[in-house]
Amino acid sequence: MTRTTPVAESSPATLNKLLCRALARQVLPRPPFWFMRQAGRYLPEYREVREKAGSFLDFCYSPELACEATLQPVRRFGTDAAIVFSDILVIPDALGQAVDFLPQKGPILEPIRSVGDIEALSPGRVRDHLDPVYETLRRARGALPQGVALIGFAGAPWTVACYMVEGSAPWELTCARAWARDRPAETQTLISILIEATATHLIAQADAGAEVLQLFDTWAGALTAAEFERWSIAPTAELVRRIREPHPEVPIIGFPNKVGRLYAAYAERTGVDAVSIDSTVPLQWAANELQPHCPVQGNLDPYLLVSGGKPLRDEAQRILSVLGRGPFVFNLGHGVLPQTPPEHVSELADIIRDWSS
Ligand code: CP3
Repeated sequence: MTRTTPVAESSPATLNKLLCRALARQVLPRPPFWFMRQAGRYLPEYREVREKAGSFLDFCYSPELACEATLQPVRRFGTDAAIVFSDILVIPDALGQAVDFLPQKGPILEPIRSVGDIEALSPGRVRDHLDPVYETLRRARGALPQGVALIGFAGAPWTVACYMVEGSAPWELTCARAWARDRPAETQTLISILIEATATHLIAQADAGAEVLQLFDTWAGALTAAEFERWSIAPTAELVRRIREPHPEVPIIGFPNKVGRLYAAYAERTGVDAVSIDSTVPLQWAANELQPHCPVQGNLDPYLLVSGGKPLRDEAQRILSVLGRGPFVFNLGHGVLPQTPPEHVSELADIIRDWSS
């Protein structure tokens, strides 16, 4: 398994950022760390801003408040990266689909049900509609301490398609999987629109100052191996190709959630610079099968961060001892949960900072 695309030259400014160095495959005295969903309701300072913001989408489209939410975890925990405060569902919103976030229930969308619904989407609107997100990135880039990298992100086409077709958090994925199986031509049309919209959005984020990009494929694990090839690997490879044209210098991290041994195929065939692994992946397998080929990010169980104590400390040390000597980014296996005590996150940040290979 070898990479087909060369590692791009890093600029001098990114060379002193630990995250960028790890993604350029350098082995460092200690790995960089940040946490997926590090901004959110578990932080009292987030809840304070959230109350002022109105709807969740208004919050995402307020550069002032979104920039504040982006910076909060960096201030509190000294993470090596900030991830722009936004959501994967700004893409369906920009495409013209009705999207709402209900308190306690999560996202609700007016579901796509026909070819006509797909034809009504407008990929041409993405860049203008999402300009507030790019303004958030410009502000955050100017405000971040030296050495802290700024991450832009999007949902991978398959995961965003799941929400668009299901109309809500797709726990069962009944509609989306039935579409992929029974109506492959329509699914392909929707995925192609999402590739175009997502490429535009990620390129605009890099233009606005994102130094690293992450693709969240949260629902990749619901696919069979053949479907995963078609609906996750192929669209991701196309996205990576499109982003590399204007931005060869920006590394891309891919996170196909819960795909087991298929992480190896994903790392080999999508062309991403690094893979983020969920908490079910055995560490030694990741060290043997993934890390020789690309940097690995992950994979502490977010529930251990809720319970804390010795099990949290032991698992953090175990992850560091197995993966910390190769190119590695310390992160969770999925997002920080709302019931997480922030003190546990501070303790984890100290453990990583104090570790040395
Ligand atoms: O700190 C960060 O990581 C940056 C911001 C970020 C959010 N969502 C903010 C958010 C990121 C990277 C995301 C990604 C995202 N959004 C994913 C992929 C990662 C994953 O968790 O699988 C998905 C599937 C979504 C869709 C989404 N947005 C859901 C299912 C929900 C409701 C559930 C929940 O956790 O609340 C959201 C809302 C959302 N996105 C919140 C935040 C902080 C909470 C809303 C609130 O504060 O009222």
